Amino acid sequence: MRLAASILSADFGRLEEQLREAIAGGCDWIHFDVMDGHFVPQITFGVPVVASLRPRFTEPFDVHLMVERPEHQIEKFVEAGADLITFHWEATAHPHRLARLIRESGRRAGIAINPGTPVEVLTDLLEEVDVVLVMSVDPGYAGQAFLPRSLGRVRRLKRVIEQAGLPVEIEVDGGINPTNARSVYEAGADILVAASALFNQRLSPRTAAEQLKAALRFGA
Ligand code: DX5
Ligand code: ZN
Repeated sequence: MRLAASILSADFGRLEEQLREAIAGGCDWIHFDVMDGHFVPQITFGVPVVASLRPRFTEPFDVHLMVERPEHQIEKFVEAGADLITFHWEATAHPHRLARLIRESGRRAGIAINPGTPVEVLTDLLEEVDVVLVMSVDPGYAGQAFLPRSLGRVRRLKRVIEQAGLPVEIEVDGGINPTNARSVYEAGADILVAASALFNQRLSPRTAAEQLKAALRFGA
């Protein structure tokens, strides 16, 4: 089980330091929530943030594109050093072609689905991707409550992947905290993403990551 630290809730003035702390606490990946103000209402950040952090970290960079026309963005994020590039099924008419493009660029391909999209739409795409990202909140903001329905969705997706006999990993993103982490893992998740559970005023990112990792292992 891996934990991906989403920088969305971090203090951007101390980004490197905060990420080092989260990694010291057990975070495995760095997750970048790229938002364009169209696919989702908010605008966050893009290629320069990924490129400037790249030489400073060896951890996998996990880029989650919440943008329309993601096909226009792939080349730049490949150059910036993304390891996994995830786009939304809802954002493109050609998910098959896009996943191939990412893999042909030498990166891992991920496909994300919103809470209202049935997991079964991915059945014929699984061969083309390395990761499916199941949104457990509506994309757009950090700090939203986990949708409990997501557990059943992860279980169903896990079955579809097993039936296909493919090595596709499941990533779950949105509202992850020490109380629900273990049940999401038991439902079939391989990677959990967290923003507000790691970067908040209450705990240091290191302590927050340690608590989340402990909850994953032993339950809350
Ligand atoms: C939501 C983003 C998530 C978000 C998670 O649109 O894709 O990665 O940062 O934030 P929390 O963990 O606070 O729900
Ligand atoms: Zn995300």
